[in-house]
Amino acid sequence: MSKTEQDLKDAFAGESQANRRYLAFAAAADREGHPQAAKLFRAAAEAETVHAHNHLKALKGIKSTKENVLEAIAGETHEFKNMYPRMLESARAEGNKEAERSFHYANEVEKIHAQLYQKVLGNLGATKETFAYYVCPVCGYTSEKEPPDSCPVCGTKGKMFKKID
Ligand SMILES: [Fe+2]
Ligand SMILES: [Fe+2]
Repeated sequence: MSKTEQDLKDAFAGESQANRRYLAFAAAADREGHPQAAKLFRAAAEAETVHAHNHLKALKGIKSTKENVLEAIAGETHEFKNMYPRMLESARAEGNKEAERSFHYANEVEKIHAQLYQKVLGNLGATKETFAYYVCPVCGYTSEKEPPDSCPVCGTKGKMFKKID
């Protein structure tokens, strides 16, 4: 990998993290009653997404949808087979309950994501019909078409789920 490719990779990671960090900061600013700070966090977060996508494009990191879905399946599978089990074990050994729960939620949901991507891969180009997904605001559990009555991973009520379409 060239120096510039490594730089693009590092910058993509940094800008991506800044986006999520700023969105979390914006929600905190709203809760604390600082709406102007919240707006700037959200505006900067949007700009960091533009930067992140530009870097990813320069890295030739966006391919055909079939290739992108295959990459997503590989990423999710790596996470629930290797990455999170290892992290869960360390968090347990260190007695970090909050980290353990966070890793557990992600680990369970990445399994579902891999299945959902697999399903979409099988249907690519087969049908024009689409449906919505629903995402649990607590653990990220993702369902098709309807939210569950309550989240199978964390128990949150289905009516709290966010509709994505
Ligand atoms: Fe995932
Ligand atoms: Fe959940």
